[in-house]
Amino acid sequence: MKMIEGNQKLAPPEIPTALQNARKDFPILKREVNGKPLVYLDNAASTQKPQSVIDTLTRYYEYENANIHRGVHLLSTEATGAYEEARQKLATYLNAADSAEIVFTRQATEAINLVAHSFVEPIVEAGDEIVITHMEHHANIVPWQLLCDRTGAILKIAPVTDNGQLDTEALKNLLGPKTKLLSFVYVSNAIGAINPAEELIAAAKDQGIPTLVDAAQAVQHTTVDVQELDCDFLVLSGHKMFGPTGIGALYGQLSRLEGMRPYQGGGDMISHVTFEGTTYKEPPSRFEAGTPHISGAIGLGAAVDYIESVGRDVIEDYEAKLMIYALKRLDEIPSLRVIGDFEKRAGAISFVMENAHPHDIGTVLDTEGVAVRSGHHCCEPLMRRLGVVATARASFSLYNNHQDVDALVDGLKKVNTLFG
Ligand code: ALA
Repeated sequence: MKMIEGNQKLAPPEIPTALQNARKDFPILKREVNGKPLVYLDNAASTQKPQSVIDTLTRYYEYENANIHRGVHLLSTEATGAYEEARQKLATYLNAADSAEIVFTRQATEAINLVAHSFVEPIVEAGDEIVITHMEHHANIVPWQLLCDRTGAILKIAPVTDNGQLDTEALKNLLGPKTKLLSFVYVSNAIGAINPAEELIAAAKDQGIPTLVDAAQAVQHTTVDVQELDCDFLVLSGHKMFGPTGIGALYGQLSRLEGMRPYQGGGDMISHVTFEGTTYKEPPSRFEAGTPHISGAIGLGAAVDYIESVGRDVIEDYEAKLMIYALKRLDEIPSLRVIGDFEKRAGAISFVMENAHPHDIGTVLDTEGVAVRSGHHCCEPLMRRLGVVATARASFSLYNNHQDVDALVDGLKKVNTLFG
């Protein structure tokens, strides 16, 4: 990922040709909020949906709707084809070697729980260790705590510095013969820090330790190549990358998935069922019990098409410039402190103000039509580590522009006047 230097002085970034019509592609951006044009800066919580994704969902329900993998009739065949095509699109997007390495789940959260239950639990013994970091989302903490409760395994936490950076050397020192998994976030949803994923994975591999990458905040901002990363598992959420809610995915190396027990039991994941015993399908079907979120997967495929139509390099480059502009403009507010000081940042800028609680900041900004998130961002341990109970967070996407940043800064100046 590209470096963003917060102290660079730059003019507003130009919108590249591939993004000139982006705002028109997202119908919700036309609406007003509290009598003001919507300025949507809560993209780390959920991204908006382009018309092409909305149309794909409508077309599916109007034209193709049927259950998959079960019927010989035309609608079922078409729905099955569209669902499997979406799997292939996601596999190509992540550069997975085989579409069977993509398991559809409800979100990144379910994908992590799946790995905890089906991969780690059978190989862990009391006293074994799972290594995570201090900057994880609760989704990459709680499943491991539950696993440790069940098995007697120990959760080890790699520290974060006062500046909000992962202490990579300390993390490497935690890895050892008892480590059964290293699971870490690629891009922090709460503060936008980018972790050196390849370096961490390589350090784990040196000791034969499997890795899981939480890429929920990475895949919409940059190119993520699972073969280049050489991770064992990677998880993502559809709604954070312009797709529908309720759909996510687990990437798992096929050799790993093949050796794993099912996560949930039900229809479509079995080969044969008798009362004496049941046999299971090969991955990915083994992990997709019951009727899946068919329209969600197809919508996610359309979201991937949308991102590819713009180009990930274009998105990464433009967003990097917009973040530099935003950091520079936020500097104008003396009572504001950006949380985290690191060379690499993507997607989000978290901040606090001297006299205003983050919820007050969020409320005042909302009156100006500016949507940001305030709170702990599902990262309570990280907030505590950085000495705050909560922050306000502006998070960016490909359709944001410098006028959005200007509206944010104007709103924050109003906060300063009201609470300063
Ligand atoms: N994890 C989501 C966020 O960062 C909800 O806001």
